[in-house]
Amino acid sequence: MKAIWIDSLGGPEVMQVIDMPIPEPGRKEVRIKVESVGLNYSDIMIREGRYLQRTELPQVLGRELAGVVDAVGPEVTRVQPGQRVYATSASGALAEYCIAHQGAVFPLPDAMTSDLAVALIVQGLTALHCLDHHGRLNAGETVLIHAAAGGVGTLAIQMARHFGAGKIIGTASSEAKLAVIRELGAEAVNYTEPDWADQVLALTGGRGADLILESVGGEVFWTSYRRLLAFAGRIVIFGIASTEVNQLHTNEILRRNKTIIGYFLGEYFEKARDHVVRDTARVLEMVLSGAVKPVIDTPFSLENAVDAFNHMQNRKNIGKVIIKP
Ligand SMILES: NC(=O)c1ccc[n+]([C@@H]2O[C@H](COP(=O)([O-])OP(=O)(O)OC[C@H]3O[C@@H](n4cnc5c(N)ncnc54)[C@H](OP(=O)(O)O)[C@@H]3O)[C@@H](O)[C@H]2O)c1
Repeated sequence: MKAIWIDSLGGPEVMQVIDMPIPEPGRKEVRIKVESVGLNYSDIMIREGRYLQRTELPQVLGRELAGVVDAVGPEVTRVQPGQRVYATSASGALAEYCIAHQGAVFPLPDAMTSDLAVALIVQGLTALHCLDHHGRLNAGETVLIHAAAGGVGTLAIQMARHFGAGKIIGTASSEAKLAVIRELGAEAVNYTEPDWADQVLALTGGRGADLILESVGGEVFWTSYRRLLAFAGRIVIFGIASTEVNQLHTNEILRRNKTIIGYFLGEYFEKARDHVVRDTARVLEMVLSGAVKPVIDTPFSLENAVDAFNHMQNRKNIGKVIIKP
């Protein structure tokens, strides 16, 4: 089978398309014939060795996939061959076949195609959890969503609207992305412009946002936290796309009367499987009811996986990037 292999850390040059044997499932493992792979910003961080978890080498890249169960180990009880599933895996998704532990394999409802599953599960759960469980958005509140034309961002705008947010402001780095944010019903601000924070303040009558979804880090975090949060506002930190990690002193947190919230979906997959199942159904319901329409970028083939990674890393993607083996 074809797979995207790395044996060292680095840029696109470390990614190789190789031929390798189809892997065999272990006792509690499931082999999936992969139909769609979801590219996440974390895949770039893993390739470069700067993710929250250490990158094991060598590895087949890719952590989010959907397809059909092809074979199961003798102790697998949750799924059967022929069943359509979504899965996460520590590695190995960017291949024609992938092995996943049965605990990380979720049967797909009929209404959810493989492309929809990879467009919706990681990004949709992240958007939902950041707005709802973690961000505790109330109807009428103002929300500021950074990188709002991306996979998480495009879903977060639509969910915020669905939850009754009063005003939604999305930031992005190009005119094409700002146009998508506006189409989705939010105000749009280019946060690469020097006066971007003044623009956000002007849109909120100087008050700032009640809730900020922050995934960029560096200056975007500082400005958001220090200038753009309304009194007693909440900022959810769920990514560091700029790679610039901020260091904060507790005395500053104390004096600002604002809540800083961390969010990491990976821990939900490990510790809260029932949340994942329930909340995936909630995300799907929003899609089926028409409240949320996933934005999916043009799919890439497995052979062109490097182009897909570059597309995302060069900030070109609008919505979710999918790779099709
Ligand atoms: N905590 C979690 O569990 C969790 C789960 C899923 C995703 N995430 C995080 O959520 C964010 C969005 O994820 P996604 O997969 O949907 O990706 P995405 O938003 O489709 O792509 C990342 C976006 O980050 C923005 N960005 C800002 N500064 C950047 C920089 N220096 N280099 C590259 N991009 C930069 C770019 O948008 P602009 O061009 O508009 O700036 C880019 O399109 C990522 O930071 C990701 O790590 C976290």
